[in-house]
Amino acid sequence: MSRASFDVLVVGAGAAGMMCAAEAGRRGRRVLVVDHAANPGEKIRISGGGRCNFTNLGCGPVNFLGENPRFATSALRRFTQHDFIKRLDRAGIAWHEKTLGQLFCDDSAKQIVRMLTDDMAAAGVTLKMKTGVERLSKSGEGWIINLSDGTQVTAAALVVATGGKSIPKMGATGWAYEVARQFDIRVTDTRPALVPLTFEAGLLETLTPLAGVAVDARVASAPDTKARKAAFDEAMLFTHRGLSGPAILQISSYWREGEAIVAAMAPGRDVFAELKAAKTANGRQAVHTALGHVVPRRLAESLCAREGAAGNLADLSDATLRRLDQAVNAWSVKPVGSEGYRTAEVTLGGIDTAALDQQTLAAKAVPGLYFIGEAVDVTGWLGGYNFQWAWSSGWAAGQVC
Ligand code: FDA
Repeated sequence: MSRASFDVLVVGAGAAGMMCAAEAGRRGRRVLVVDHAANPGEKIRISGGGRCNFTNLGCGPVNFLGENPRFATSALRRFTQHDFIKRLDRAGIAWHEKTLGQLFCDDSAKQIVRMLTDDMAAAGVTLKMKTGVERLSKSGEGWIINLSDGTQVTAAALVVATGGKSIPKMGATGWAYEVARQFDIRVTDTRPALVPLTFEAGLLETLTPLAGVAVDARVASAPDTKARKAAFDEAMLFTHRGLSGPAILQISSYWREGEAIVAAMAPGRDVFAELKAAKTANGRQAVHTALGHVVPRRLAESLCAREGAAGNLADLSDATLRRLDQAVNAWSVKPVGSEGYRTAEVTLGGIDTAALDQQTLAAKAVPGLYFIGEAVDVTGWLGGYNFQWAWSSGWAAGQVC
């Protein structure tokens, strides 16, 4: 068995782990990063359609969920979206705002991975890929870690940056939760988030013909949802399994089994008034044609069939037109589940923030142990917030570990 000694061992060469390692290395710490995947930063590489939505101009604590949403404030304030943008500018990585403050690389997400691996190399960090942790034990003030390549490493600080459980195919393991349990640190309930929602077979049968239809929608939690109320104005997409698109991914973080969600598929428009005006102007117009001026035609046909609204506008009562208005702008639907970790962008929940110092991400009861990034019970909205949490929490731990 070979032996090696470092000041800091970072497990996980994702967004948070690489940021933390580069910062600690810059401070003169001898840092080793290990990761069981073949390449570092795989989620960065595939994110945002290959362009990585790396932050959001409007990023703040309000964009995060968790048992204590204020926990993220300290790290987010100390290393902000503007600090990360400055790094990209220094590295010559061009970027643009797409929509809603979401920033993407002009060329490729690989540029960010390269910037981080270059930063680590410049700071003297050692990176070992295809290497996992086989055993972990505390020894006095430090750690003894047996790696899968047969090396035994001693380190003063251990930083757990292995992310959450989303997309197991890409190497997600939930290992951070095992470490937490080993040291009696509470892990909150975890569930897939930013994930498409699915319907039961009966509902799916009536909605399958709509697969591929997209609308700009306002999707909200059901009015009787006491906690976790939210509403998002973004695109919604009908799929072969249920609903997807940004508005649905966003609400999925707030939704729970047994609850409904409410979609307005022509938000801000008075559909009743528009249909009434169309009836006055041309009563011989087919109702689905008139509704097709408000929502996509396939959706209009489906809604008319569902509400029993057939024939010309002139033949339809105000009550029927009002029902169509409700069907478009107050569609209450109960998903049966989600597509799960297979497609979820993130994991909601994780290491209990009450067990961590919010300035440093250090475990309060276990000296020399840090949890950063998605492993922690801090989950961002869709739109660059999760990467910003990874950068900010990695940076914060990197100042002290
Ligand atoms: P991350 O998961 O990035 O890194 C963890 C690392 O640990 C991985 O390299 C993994 O191989 C390694 N690891 C895991 N278990 C291990 C073990 N037992 N031993 C050794 N190594 C281990 N967010 C955003 O803000 N904008 C976006 O555009 C997107 N897009 C996006 C697309 C898709 C498809 C997904 C799945 C996710 C996103 N996200 C996103 C979310 C974002 O990718 C995520 O929040 C961050 O990558 C989290 O960074 P971490 O460093 O915490 O974990």
